[in-house]
Amino acid sequence: MTDTIDADLSALFEAASAAKAQAYAPYSNFPVGAALRDEHGRIHAGCNVENAAYPVGTCAEAGAIAAMIAGGGRAIGTILIIGDGPALVTPCGACRQRIREFAKPGTPIHIAGPEGIRRRFTLGALLPDSFGPENLLSENPSTDV
Ligand code: THU
Repeated sequence: MTDTIDADLSALFEAASAAKAQAYAPYSNFPVGAALRDEHGRIHAGCNVENAAYPVGTCAEAGAIAAMIAGGGRAIGTILIIGDGPALVTPCGACRQRIREFAKPGTPIHIAGPEGIRRRFTLGALLPDSFGPENLLSENPSTDV
C-alpha cells in the first residue's frame, strides 16, 4: 500500500517537476509546477505563465486545472505543487478556490521542493468553511448554522 502511495506521488512529483522546468517566470524568477490526478487516474500538469502586465500572469495550479478540464477530467483526487527555495509553496488564495471547485475537503495537497515532498495538507485545512458548487444549490446539504 505504501508502495502504491509512493508510486502515485512520485508520478505526480515527476510531472510537476517537468512542468516547473517549462515555467515562464521571467519577472519573479520563481518557477512553479503543479500536477494533479483526476478521477480517471490521469495526470495533468501546469506551470506558472507570467506576463509583462503582471496581474495577468497565471499560477501553475490554474494551468494544471485547465489541462484537466480540457482532457475531460472533472475531479481532483490529489494535487502536488513544487517550487524552489526554502519556503513552502502553498497555493495562493485564488488557487485554493480554484482547487476547491473540483476537490473535496479531504483532498490531499502535497507541497514539494526539489528534494521531494515537504508537507501534506488537505484542501479543508487550507480553505476551511469554503464556498463551492453545493452552496449554489437551492437545497444546501450543509446547513450547519
Ligand atoms: N505561483 C504559482 O504558480 N503557484 C503558487 O502556488 C504560488 C505562486 C507563482 C505566481 C508567480 O508567477 C510566481 O509564483 C511568484 O509569485
